[in-house]
Amino acid sequence: MPTVVIVYFSASGHTEQVAQAVADGAKSVAGTVTTLHRIVSEDIDGGRWKNDEIIASLNAADAIVFGTPTYMGGYSGQFKTFIDACGGIWYHQGWKDKIGAGFTHSQGLSGDKLNTLSGLMINGMQHSMIWVGTGSMPEGNTPDKMNRLSSYMGAMAQSNMDQPEIGTGDRQTAIALGKRVAETAARWNR
Ligand SMILES: Cc1cc2nc3c(=O)[nH]c(=O)nc-3n(C[C@H](O)[C@H](O)[C@H](O)COP(=O)(O)O)c2cc1C
Repeated sequence: MPTVVIVYFSASGHTEQVAQAVADGAKSVAGTVTTLHRIVSEDIDGGRWKNDEIIASLNAADAIVFGTPTYMGGYSGQFKTFIDACGGIWYHQGWKDKIGAGFTHSQGLSGDKLNTLSGLMINGMQHSMIWVGTGSMPEGNTPDKMNRLSSYMGAMAQSNMDQPEIGTGDRQTAIALGKRVAETAARWNR
């Protein structure tokens, strides 16, 4: 029974919609236990990470999916605080051989989202995780198309400032990533 834990930051809810789509994909694989952790301001105090429960949940997971909006071409500051707090786990290689994956949302069509995904993957590599990409071919460029932003390292989503809901194509891309992560975790566990 694979456990998939999704940890993400979202200020205004778009990245949260991507996280929920990843969770829907993971849950579609029979027997998968899926948990979502949204990083909130109370998790950080004086610039330091405070939420040991989230860390314990990640330590117990078979797969961790990391998600952040793209800010200034990289992680949001809140997410970076969380990533840096996991440095002690890195030191002991506590996440070695867990499945890892990532996603990001931004306003710009490019918006330098690839740099954010690269950062998430490098973090996964430093933890010696097994990184899972989207595994989805782009079906076109319009907002209803699967992987319309042609991203392979992780799921990308893009919405305009006045657009409350992410597009169906980006949602499908995130669902497919979640499903792939859960299937990989189940296979890896076997
Ligand atoms: C400080 C800041 C920096 C941002 N930098 C970028 C950027 O580099 N590229 C981009 O496309 N969008 C950028 N944006 C827009 C965010 O990516 C967008 O607001 C975010 O993805 C919305 O996600 P959320 O609803 O989950 O908070 C930035 C927004 C903020 C607040």
